[in-house]
Amino acid sequence: MTDSVFFDFSMLSRHNCHKLLTATVVPRPIAWVTTLNEDDTLNVGPFSFFNVAAEEPPLISIAIGGGERFEGDLKDTGVNIRRTEEFVVNLVDYSSAEAMTKTAVNFASGISEAAFAAIETHSSSHIRTPRISHSPAALECKLYRSIDLGLGQSLVLGQVVGVHVNREAVLDVDRCYVDTPRLDLIARMYGNGWYTRMTDWFQQITPPHP
Ligand SMILES: Cc1cc2nc3c(=O)[nH]c(=O)nc-3n(C[C@H](O)[C@H](O)[C@H](O)COP(=O)(O)O)c2cc1C
Repeated sequence: MTDSVFFDFSMLSRHNCHKLLTATVVPRPIAWVTTLNEDDTLNVGPFSFFNVAAEEPPLISIAIGGGERFEGDLKDTGVNIRRTEEFVVNLVDYSSAEAMTKTAVNFASGISEAAFAAIETHSSSHIRTPRISHSPAALECKLYRSIDLGLGQSLVLGQVVGVHVNREAVLDVDRCYVDTPRLDLIARMYGNGWYTRMTDWFQQITPPHP
């Protein structure tokens, strides 16, 4: 890149830094996170500051922003994860795009996004928190660390205790082969409500050491 515009984050507002990060770090997978509220009702919310973080132990990371209703407070998802020390990351397929966005609506805690988005759930295998039935891959997680990032934000590391994969997408159970295109997952792009599907693949194999 010979001709570039440098955006110095120390000179920019939080909002503009956010715009630049989310417009360039794309596509981002979406963790559709289920947690249990204090009264055991279900809380659901999507998070795209999400990825695999480590192999051993198997960890995923999610960055949870500050709550909007109370300056400095974590969102309900963060509060629930800290209290229950468990959650499910439900990956999102194309057919769930609309339901997923409905669960991003900022209801008061105690009001069920799951009911608003008509989400059905199944029980999990190793944790109490249910998973979303329609998700083609759902990772059961136990809290590994929650790192306070200030301003009500936290970086949650979850240890994956197991993953439910839609049987139709499992090629070989013993060898753990999954037909990833079959999952039809979507990912977050930039701006107002833009997403992408995984329909444009190419293969580029890493060469062996010369
Ligand atoms: C596709 C998508 C991705 C999002 N990613 C994040 C994220 O990474 N971090 C975050 O704090 N909020 C994110 N949000 C906003 C939350 O989903 C929203 O604040 C939601 O109400 C949180 O739910 P809760 O209050 O029940 O925890 C995202 C919203 C959408 C639609």
